[in-house]
Amino acid sequence: MNSSDKRIIIALDGFSSSGKSTMARRLAAAISYRYIDSGAMYRAVTLYALDNGLIAPDGTPDTDGIIKALPQIKIDFAPQADGTQHTTLCGKDVEQEIRRLRVSNAVSPVSAIPQVRHALVAMQKELGKERGIVMDGRDIGTVVFPDAELKIFVDASAETRAMRRFKEMVDKGLQVSYEDVLANVVKRDHIDSTREESPLRRADDAISLDNSAMTIEEQDAWLLQQFERVTGRG
Ligand code: DC
Repeated sequence: MNSSDKRIIIALDGFSSSGKSTMARRLAAAISYRYIDSGAMYRAVTLYALDNGLIAPDGTPDTDGIIKALPQIKIDFAPQADGTQHTTLCGKDVEQEIRRLRVSNAVSPVSAIPQVRHALVAMQKELGKERGIVMDGRDIGTVVFPDAELKIFVDASAETRAMRRFKEMVDKGLQVSYEDVLANVVKRDHIDSTREESPLRRADDAISLDNSAMTIEEQDAWLLQQFERVTGRG
C-alpha cells in the first residue's frame, strides 16, 4: 500500500449550524469514506431523556437518571438505499425527530454531562478503528481523535449559521421563527464552548475555515484539496 492509499481519519469540528455536517457528508461521499455525525448521538441521548421524563420542563436534565439509563440507550446508524444513513435509537429510526427544536433546545446541557460524553466518545473511538471515516462534532480533533491526520475547524457568524438552520427547517416544513433559531444557536455556542468537560475549541493543529461567504461547491473543492494534500492523492 503506498501513502496515497492510506485511509485516514478526518475530524471536522465547529459551532452549531456551521455547515459541518453538509461538508463532512459530501466529503465522505466524494472519497468513499464513512461519515459519522457525532452530534446525532448526543441528540439521540437527549431524545431518549425527553421521552422518558428525564428532562424537567425548564430544560434541566436529571443527570443521575440519564447516567443510569445510559446502558439502555442503544444508538446506531442504519444505511439507506440512497447512500445516507439514519440515526436509530433502540432500533427505531429517529433521524427526523432528533433534528427538531425540542431536541436542539435540550441537547447542550445533556452533552455537558461527563458520563454521557465518556460513553459516546468510547463509541466514537470504536467506530474510528475502521479508519476511512469523516466525523463531525465539537471535540473530534481535540478528544476523540487527537491523532487524526486531517483536522478542520469550521466557523461562520451566528447570524449566518442561524439563517442556514432556519432555511433548512422551513424547507422541511417545520414551523419556526428566525429569532428562535438564532437564540438557540447563540445559547448553544455559549454552553458548548464554556462547559467544563471537553469544551468546543479549535485543536492547535486544526486548519480553520470561515465558510460564511462560500458556496457548497467551493467548500467541496477546498476540502478535497486538503484531503489530497494530506494523503498525497490527486
Ligand atoms: O452538531 P449538532 O448541532 O447536531 O450537535 C448537537 C449538540 O451536541 C451540540 O449542541 C453540542 C453537542 N455535541 C457535542 O457536545 N460534542 C460533539 N462531538 C457533537 C455534538
